[in-house]
Amino acid sequence: EKVILAYSGGLDTTAIIPWLKETYGYEVICCCVDCGQEEELNGLDERAKLSGASKLYIEDIVDEFCDDYIVPCVQANAVYENKYLLGTSMARPGIAKKLVEIARKEGATAICHGATGKGNDQIRFELSIKALAPDLKIIAPWRDSNWKLQSRQDEIDFCTAHGIHLPFSVDSSYSRDRNLWHISHEGLELEDPSLEPNYEHLLVLTTPPEKAPDEGEYVTMTFEKGVPVSVNGKKMKVSDIIRELNTLGGKHGIGIIDIVENRVVGMKSRGVYETPGGTILMEAHEQLEELVLDRATMEVKKDMGNKLAQIVYEGKWFTPLREAVQAFVESTQEYVTGEVKFKLYKGNIIKAGTTSPYSLYSESLASFTTGDLYDHHDADGFITLFGLPLKVRAMKMLELQKE
Ligand code: ARG
Ligand code: SIN
Repeated sequence: EKVILAYSGGLDTTAIIPWLKETYGYEVICCCVDCGQEEELNGLDERAKLSGASKLYIEDIVDEFCDDYIVPCVQANAVYENKYLLGTSMARPGIAKKLVEIARKEGATAICHGATGKGNDQIRFELSIKALAPDLKIIAPWRDSNWKLQSRQDEIDFCTAHGIHLPFSVDSSYSRDRNLWHISHEGLELEDPSLEPNYEHLLVLTTPPEKAPDEGEYVTMTFEKGVPVSVNGKKMKVSDIIRELNTLGGKHGIGIIDIVENRVVGMKSRGVYETPGGTILMEAHEQLEELVLDRATMEVKKDMGNKLAQIVYEGKWFTPLREAVQAFVESTQEYVTGEVKFKLYKGNIIKAGTTSPYSLYSESLASFTTGDLYDHHDADGFITLFGLPLKVRAMKMLELQKE
């Protein structure tokens, strides 16, 4: 029988290969799903085979990640607990979908992943797999009673005992997850929320703001129906837009956040995220919406965005609720077309103007000059009615005080 292993080339997933063969007698087929992690994928094939896998798939889903997952989340302004732009969360369903696809192609009966029993990722992988392929068995070594390896040293020893001699280091670094949208950092000093992150040591995509250039830099972005289409006047596909904005944002120290978040499994956990391009893109999109959406739609859309963030964080991508929320959001994007200009300066995004052919902003209405459309006197009656319930209540309170 065959198992598909979500493979990264790291120590954990490498040790899992001989473990799967030995413990369950599986033929192990590795699958490395590329969402833009920019890791050295060269040599991965050799490494997987050396570790006893019968095959390695390297699957590039970067554009699908952008179009099917990132864009809907940008359109919804989906942000978890006010800060986290969901970089890891958004990538998991796409990875799971690819694993299922390979499992079908290979006639495998199981999928194995290396996420721990304490985190969110196990939930995201497994809910996605269940939704797409309820018949497939899921193996999570970290929760398996047959898994006895407790430390990196144990894993290295286990590999060596199985004839796998690879240059893995014993000391653990941050627990990181990188893709086109972001990089996350957890562990080491971050586990104590009273400590300042060691930014010098930690940052990968961004420069610390104090070391960013002393000159600000302008960037313009255009959107069509809520989809980003160009940067600085150059039309590009979404993945290239994010790459370009990552470079610019990284240079100016944009999009570094430090959060204590609530994991689905009940615990709080502290992490630092770098999302340079994503932060710029989301803010630009929101900026444009300020101009073109009416107030009532904006209000409901805000709730829907929070709802989508929760759905994505909890790994419930492949559900009717996600589809319905996404459909609502999409219908609000009809007129989200226009251009946004920002100045990037030492960790800050400074607004530098927004335009749209569908702008609802009316200068003559907003300015203090009088016109035909708005008569100051109309506000009299409006305020009388708008304030009626609170006035009635205040009168009742007065009456009760007198009694
Ligand atoms: N806490 C974040 C999340 O739940 C990041 C998880 C990072 N995952 C990892 N395997 N390092 O989405
Ligand atoms: C893990 O536990 O595998 C990483 C952290 C997380 O999933 O939240």
